[in-house]
Amino acid sequence: MIIATSHTTTDDIPNNNKQSPAMTTTANAPAPFNRLLLTGAAGGLGKVLRQSLRPYAKVLRLSDIAEMAPANGEHEEVVLCDLADKAAVHQLVEGVDAILHFGGVSVERPFEEILGANICGVFHIYEAARRHGVKRVVFASSNHVIGFHRQDAILDAHSPRRPDGYYGLSKSYGEDLASFYFDRYGIESVSIRIGSSFPEPNNRRMLSTWLSYRDLTQLLERALYTPNVGHTVVYGMSANRDLWWDNHLAAHLGYQPQDSSEAFRERVEAQPMPAADDPVRLFQGGAFAAAGPFGDD
Ligand SMILES: NC(=O)c1ccc[n+]([C@@H]2O[C@H](COP(=O)([O-])OP(=O)(O)OC[C@H]3O[C@@H](n4cnc5c(N)ncnc54)[C@H](O)[C@@H]3O)[C@@H](O)[C@H]2O)c1
Repeated sequence: MIIATSHTTTDDIPNNNKQSPAMTTTANAPAPFNRLLLTGAAGGLGKVLRQSLRPYAKVLRLSDIAEMAPANGEHEEVVLCDLADKAAVHQLVEGVDAILHFGGVSVERPFEEILGANICGVFHIYEAARRHGVKRVVFASSNHVIGFHRQDAILDAHSPRRPDGYYGLSKSYGEDLASFYFDRYGIESVSIRIGSSFPEPNNRRMLSTWLSYRDLTQLLERALYTPNVGHTVVYGMSANRDLWWDNHLAAHLGYQPQDSSEAFRERVEAQPMPAADDPVRLFQGGAFAAAGPFGDD
C-alpha cells in the first residue's frame, strides 16, 4: 500500500504496521541488502559508516568526488563520481537496492557551490533511483533546514522549515524531492535532519544537537529496514538532556538512542559563555545563521 502523504505520521501508517519495531542492534543485524550505495564515503561520516554499515550489505558501493581507500575485498566497490554529473550518477546507482545519500557540500557556502553538489546532486540521485527501480533512499538532511528557529522552541517534523542559509535550503529541497518522489513514484525515503554527528559534542549548542556515531548507525538501520515509511522526516540526535526536537511523528521507525551528551557537559561548559546576542546562543542552526552574505565583491 502506498501512503499518499508527504510526511508520514504514525496515524498515516496502516494498523498492521503501527507496532513499534523491536530495536535491532548491530549485533543482531537483519538480513543484509545485496548492494547498498553510500555517497559521501570519503567524508567524516562516510569513513565511519564505511565500517558501521558493513553488517547491512553484502556489497557496499562507496562513492565520492574525493579519493578513498581502495576497496577492501569483494564486499566493497569504490567509485569516484561527481554528484553534479547526471550521467555518472545514473551509472553509479545501477544495481543497488537502496541509497544512503551523504555526499555534497556539508557547510554554508556561496549558492553556486551548493547548486551542483547538493541541489543538482540530490535530483540526480532521485532520478537515477526512479530509472533503476531503487525503492528506498536515506537522505542526510540537516538541522539547518530549521536553523532559524530559536533555541527555546521545541520542533517536530511538521514545524515550519526555516533554513538558515543556502546549505539549509539545499537540504530543504532534498526533503521536498523525497516527498515528491514518494507521492509520484512510490520511492520511500527517510530524511534525517542530522544534528551534530562528531566523536564528541564540542560546544554548548552541541549538548542539545549531538548525535553519536552509534546512534547514527542505529537510525540508519531503522531507516533502511522499517516498512512503509512513505517519506518520514526524523531528527538525528542522541538521548541528550536538553532536546529541541521531538520525534513522535517518526515513532514508527523505533529509533531508541543509546548515548547522551551529558558525559561531556562538564568539559563543554568550562568553555567561555558566548554573548547573549551571539547567534550560536540564539538560533538552532548556531553560527550558520550568521554566515554570508557572499559575492558582494
Ligand atoms: N556531520 C554532521 O554533524 C552533519 C550534520 C548535518 C548534516 N550532515 C550531512 O551528512 C552528510 C555527511 O556529512 P559529513 O560531516 O561527513 O560531511 P563531509 O563534508 O565530511 O563529507 C561530505 C562528502 O561529500 C563529498 N562531496 C562534496 N561535493 C561532492 C560532489 N560534487 N560529488 C560527490 N561528492 C561530493 C565530499 O568530498 C565529502 O567527502 C552531508 O550531506 C552533510 O550535509 C552532517
